[in-house]
Amino acid sequence: MRRLFPVTDQTATRASGESGGGGAGETVGAPGGVSGSEGSRAVPAVDFGHGGLPAGDLVDREWSLDELAAAYAYPEPGPTGREPWLRANMVSTLDGAAQHDGRSQPISSATDMRVFGTLRGLADVIVVGAETVRHEGYRPARVRAEFAELREAAGQTPAPAIAVVSASLELDFTLPLFTSPVTPTLVLTGAAAAPDRIATAEKAGARVVIAGDGVGVDPARAVRALADLGHTRLLTEGGPRLLGQLVAAGVLDELCLTVAPLLTAGDAQRIAGGPSVGVPRHFELVSLLEEAGFLFSRYRRS
Ligand SMILES: NC(=O)c1ccc[n+]([C@@H]2O[C@H](COP(=O)([O-])OP(=O)(O)OC[C@H]3O[C@@H](n4cnc5c(N)ncnc54)[C@H](OP(=O)(O)O)[C@@H]3O)[C@@H](O)[C@H]2O)c1
Repeated sequence: MRRLFPVTDQTATRASGESGGGGAGETVGAPGGVSGSEGSRAVPAVDFGHGGLPAGDLVDREWSLDELAAAYAYPEPGPTGREPWLRANMVSTLDGAAQHDGRSQPISSATDMRVFGTLRGLADVIVVGAETVRHEGYRPARVRAEFAELREAAGQTPAPAIAVVSASLELDFTLPLFTSPVTPTLVLTGAAAAPDRIATAEKAGARVVIAGDGVGVDPARAVRALADLGHTRLLTEGGPRLLGQLVAAGVLDELCLTVAPLLTAGDAQRIAGGPSVGVPRHFELVSLLEEAGFLFSRYRRS
């Protein structure tokens, strides 16, 4: 894996001769976050608050999980404390397919799964649509020894909770996702959800959170409800129908998008579906990593 953006210390040194800006050896993305400038292009001055990026990022090598965790750290809390931050992690082919044969695995890669695991390792909760849970056979998030220290220091449970978004509650509540998670699974639904299904979910051990007045969940209310439960580092893994609503509601802060060097044609879903938004939402590039032609992008709402 190598870093293409933000530019590394190597590029900064080279560019400083061209533009007259930036000192030799200046490290963009050093402790304190991805701030700084490169030529005339301003790098977002957001503090992603990690412990520094490894030098020599242009070199193609396997990154440790610590390095990946630093590269994908959630923003540091502001003066008033930690605000909810919702990031999505999705994978797409070059022609925009978000699945192949009904699943995302055929368009993923080993490194994509490392990034996927890292993002889970950093999250308080993983928000996911019921159809993805049913299609992909979701299991509870597991405890990863590699993230134990980091999670403990961040005041997080040993593994993130999974929060399933469902109106119908047509979920198999006998599955380990509900009966034996490390951190109790949440079910987000609307106030008009079927009481017997709510009872079944709760009997299985799930915590049902009402986040809508009708049968469905109101995305903004869901984010607030999760924050009220102490979950501020939010990760959604889609699927497309859920992500489309999060985009439309304006609650998505960040998109970690893997672009797989594959073409599949066909009529697969894109990463975000549902009705299109009136005005396109703007995002800016925060970082871009590459491995074997896969691009691991990180965009932040601008
Ligand atoms: N490429 C990727 O990164 C990626 C990521 C995830 C999934 N996928 C793929 O995407 C496909 C599934 O995605 P999808 O878009 O069809 O489904 P989805 O977004 O995962 O789930 C849709 C379901 O979520 C529930 N839901 C969504 N919005 C809701 C709301 N506002 N209130 C209450 N419930 C709500 C409903 O569940 P109920 O029906 O239970 O009411 C709805 O049927 C699979 O093929 C999967 O492999 C790809």
